[in-house]
Order: sequence, then C-alpha cells, then structure tokens
Amino acid sequence: MTATKAVLAFCVCFVLLLAFYHRESLISLHEQLRLKTTSINMWEDKEQVGTLKELLQKAEMRNGGEKTVIFTSVNAAWAEPGSLLEILLESFKLLKNSRTQEVDFLKHLIVLAFDHKAYERCVEVHPLCYQVRTDGIDFSSAKPYMSHDYVKMMWRRIEFLNNVLAMGYSFIFSDADIIWLRNPFPLLLPSRDFEITTDRYNGNPNSHDNAPNGGYTFARSNKRTIKFYKFWYDSRLKYPIKHDQDVFIEIRHNKTMKDIGVNVGYLDTKFFASFCSYSVYHMNLAATIHANCCNGLHNKIRNLKMLLDDWKHFNIDNQTQRVWQRPNGCTLKPV
Ligand SMILES: *[C@@H]1O[C@H](CO)[C@@H](O)[C@H](O)[C@H]1NC(C)=O
Ligand SMILES: *[C@@H]1O[C@H](CO)[C@@H](O)[C@H](O)[C@H]1NC(C)=O
Repeated sequence: MTATKAVLAFCVCFVLLLAFYHRESLISLHEQLRLKTTSINMWEDKEQVGTLKELLQKAEMRNGGEKTVIFTSVNAAWAEPGSLLEILLESFKLLKNSRTQEVDFLKHLIVLAFDHKAYERCVEVHPLCYQVRTDGIDFSSAKPYMSHDYVKMMWRRIEFLNNVLAMGYSFIFSDADIIWLRNPFPLLLPSRDFEITTDRYNGNPNSHDNAPNGGYTFARSNKRTIKFYKFWYDSRLKYPIKHDQDVFIEIRHNKTMKDIGVNVGYLDTKFFASFCSYSVYHMNLAATIHANCCNGLHNKIRNLKMLLDDWKHFNIDNQTQRVWQRPNGCTLKPV
C-alpha cells in the first residue's frame, strides 16, 4: 500500500516535472524567436542594457512624451587629446555659452566608444560615455574609409541605434567630425520620422535624388523608425560590400519603405553644412559643419580647428561678416 503510494507520488512528480521542463523550453524557444524577430540585439547583455538605460535617462531631453538624446561615436584615435572628440566638445561648450542659446546640449550628449581605449579617454573628458561592444573586432586604430572594419563599425552603429529606438528614445546621431554651432532642433520637422543630411542638396527635402550623408541623422522613436532601422540593418546582407549610407541609397526606393510608411526628409546644406558644400555655407545660418569630403584625420582636425577659430571671432550682430575660410588640403568632392 505505502509502496504503491510512493510509486504514485513519484509518477505524479515526474509528470509535473516533465510538464514544467517542457513549459520552460517552450518559453525559451518563444523568447529566442522573439529576440530574433525584434530588434533587441544579442550583443548587448543584461548588464549593458542596464548601464545604457541609466545613461539614456540621465541624458534625455523631454518634450511632451518624447525623449531625445544626442549621440556621437569615437574610436581611440578620435578620442585622443587634441583629436575630434575634443573639438566637438569645444563646439558644444561654445554653443552653451553663446548668448542666443540657453540649452546645454553637453548634458544630452552620449559619446559611444567603440573600443576600450576610447572609453577610458572619454570618461576623462565627458560624463556620459558608453562602450559599444562588438564581437572580436578591435576598432581602436583609425580605420581607413571603407576598410572592412570601418564597414563593420558602421553597421554595428545602425544596429545599436535600432535598439535605442526600440527602447523608446529618439535621437540625433552626429559623427565626431561634425561641430555644432547652433541649436538644430528648430530646424527639424515635427512631421518627419527620419531626417538625414546631404552632401549636395537639390532644394527639395522630399527628393530621394538628394545625395544623403549618414553622418548626421535624426530619428524619432516610433513603430515606423524601428521597422525602418531593422530593414536597413537587415539589408546589409543583401549588399555585403556596401556600408550603411550606400545601402540606404539602395533601399530608399524599395516598396518595403512605402509599406513601413516612414517619413524621410533630407536636410538643407545651408543649415547642416559640410566641407562638400563649403561654397554655400554661411556663418549666419549653419547649425552644424561636417568635415566630410576631407580624408585623413589630421586634415579634418586642422580644418575643423580653423573653422572653430572663425566661429569664436564671429560677431552675431555683424551681418556683413559671413564666410568661413575654405577648408584646405581636402578633395571637397563627395567620396
Ligand atoms: C526590396 O527589399 C526586399 C527585401 O530586402 C528585396 O527582396 C527586394 O529585392 C527589394 N526590391 C528592390 C526593387 O530592390
Ligand atoms: C563687420 O565685419 C566686417 C568684415 O569682417 C568688418 O570689416 C567690419 O568692421 C565689422 N563691423 C563691425 C561694426 O564690427
């Protein structure tokens, strides 16, 4: 009798255990599928997501229900003393101190470090740094434009930004070789989901014939941008030798973009200026200046320092004084 009971109890336990185990494996399978199909990526582990959430909360600008942050990204070469990060931070400080601006954008800027050296350097000069980890790739040296590692870094960035959108944050992403002179937010349109700068602007912000530059983008966190970034990121597999900007050119006409319904706009080079468009940039208008169409880190640094110097001497009340010096030693042609 007791023996039968014991056997029965054992059987019941066994069945329960089996059911429980089965449920567990179902959950984990479901979880795996969910992770595969949503944009949350597998490289950010729990601890990192926690760190990132904290940083986003510290950095966020709130506008109604919308939370927005500013990102730039650096590797060790760009984060060195005297290099791009320092110039960028200096431009943010000038912006903060100029009497027409009351927003301190430094408080909202998160610097993404793509290697540990860059991270260590970043925390010395800025309170909001985040190390973006990437499987087995060392991004610490200056990467030649379009080298294999450069392309990987660009894609890692798109993936990361996709996750940020999925976490509910809108952002401006601004390359480290862009200086900020004025508040860009009044120049962005509330109706747009995504805005991107141009190397050459054809006068029509809706025209997909503009030459885009992915170095400076604005994305509003919503269902459409999350899907769009995922589509963009996934499209790298279809165009394995292209980087994010060229793949954007490939996909912007794709029917999937219409299905997603993402509202894309192109930014005017008068306001979002670059070395490519130096002939149209104007001290009275430019919100940002991008040292593109200019290869070589030292070239970029020298020319950006020169412009920042012009900017320091710029008198906002003197409308006759307007032109920047022309960048030198650069091709000044879109690459
Ligand atoms: C649009 O994107 C889909 C998904 O990547 C792809 O299969 C299709 O070939 C693309 N269409 C065009 C016209 O490029
Ligand atoms: C305005 O700028 C021009 C050109 O740099 C300069 O010649 C002129 O003296 C300036 N005027 C004033 C009032 O500062």
